[in-house]
Amino acid sequence: MADKKFELTDLASGKKSLLPVKSGTIGPDVLDIAAINRDHGVFTHDPGFGFTSACESRITYIDGDAGVLLHRGYPIEQLAEKSSFMEVCYLLLNGELPNRPDLEKFTNDIQHHTMLNESLLRFYNGFHHNAHPMAMVSAVIASMSAFYHDSMDIHNPRNREIFAHRIIAKIPTIAAAAHKHSLGQPFVYPRNDLSYCANMLNMFFAVPCEPYYIDPVAAEALDLLFILHADHEQNASTSTVRLAGSTGANPYAAISAGVAALWGPAHGGANEAVLSMLEQIGTVENIPKYIAMAKDKNSHFRLMGFGHRVYKNFDPRAKIIRGACHKVLESLGQTSNPLFELALSLEELALKDDYFIERKLYPNVDFYSGVIYSALGIPRSMFTVMFAIARTVGWVAHWQEMISDPAMRIGRPRQLYTGSVKRDYVGVEKR
Ligand code: ACO
Repeated sequence: MADKKFELTDLASGKKSLLPVKSGTIGPDVLDIAAINRDHGVFTHDPGFGFTSACESRITYIDGDAGVLLHRGYPIEQLAEKSSFMEVCYLLLNGELPNRPDLEKFTNDIQHHTMLNESLLRFYNGFHHNAHPMAMVSAVIASMSAFYHDSMDIHNPRNREIFAHRIIAKIPTIAAAAHKHSLGQPFVYPRNDLSYCANMLNMFFAVPCEPYYIDPVAAEALDLLFILHADHEQNASTSTVRLAGSTGANPYAAISAGVAALWGPAHGGANEAVLSMLEQIGTVENIPKYIAMAKDKNSHFRLMGFGHRVYKNFDPRAKIIRGACHKVLESLGQTSNPLFELALSLEELALKDDYFIERKLYPNVDFYSGVIYSALGIPRSMFTVMFAIARTVGWVAHWQEMISDPAMRIGRPRQLYTGSVKRDYVGVEKR
């Protein structure tokens, strides 16, 4: 097949350029735009990067119109039904599903890196009890770069692998410590005999004065949510990790930057915002009022958990979580859950409304996840932290892919300058 090219003509000068087209394995082709600047002296302008591919990647594929999400080629529906979070972590990091011995070794490696340096635990005392856990988690991850800096050569594959295992293993411990600090309860040390999610529940909810029963239904629900949040190609937080990491920065610092980017309500912070919104709406009768507010451009209110930059039909993760809500709530004996019922009614009414139909706004992954987190007893302020725990593997996989690519360059966008032209300085006495 002949190489595809686009021809670009500057209508003022008549100058022409040929722009090469690059094809992936699936998905739309991309245009290599380097010649636009080389031949015509202009840059492309794409605020919000809505139309720009910034890298080549083999990890995750999304078809937003068809509601397709593939990790290393495997559909999210199949992974959600048949796989486990540990297996998905291995898949994202290594590109292939593990055989049994590889999975056992990987799981064992993660289970044996769960403890934090005792000095790190003392950092939490510096935070006020009502500090937002995302602030604590981001800060503690950043400070891990102080513990693992000299031993971290980013160009050494073994060092990168140890980093991957450490951060995936320790993030539940970091999160649980933030939760315990806000409650004023003692930290619960990790237990390496437990599965990833069972250990997380134990660190979150156990107290020294009585035995804690780890509900397998809760651990299984968490495992499913973690699979569904594990990666999502070049979203805002992953792009932040890539950008920070592209400077050669310590990877713990890059992950901490990703946590900060995830926190915003337009991204991972939406799960917390959804619960606040549902509580604010309160009853089914109030839904039309809030839908009207979401449509009113003079109000800053948006339906949280609705809309997505890429999905314009449905978010397959939201569909799976909605289905899981029924099962989990039933298994936990919460057959009537007012928040879930309100969320279902809100979805139904919004999806009948022309405003949402025309703009292709559907529930996203954050719309229903909070219902399950709440049912498990996880407080609202911890929802985005749960997202961060799961997404850590995605951030690490993308950082690894970028660093091991010999063609890696520092990420450095350009701009359209609209400020003052050159002018001379005037002393304060003359202004
Ligand atoms: N409620 C009401 N209107 C909305 C919503 C919403 N949730 N989302 C988008 N719109 C409207 C916009 O006002 C805009 O309308 P207009 O064309 O009349 O101006 C149109 O839909 C397009 O919206 P954009 O903001 O341009 O879409 P963008 O791709 O930039 O933003 C985003 C996507 C941030 C997810 C947005 O839909 C949103 O703010 N949603 C609510 C927050 C949320 O749930 N975020 C989680 C996303 S999933 C994740 O990150 C894990």
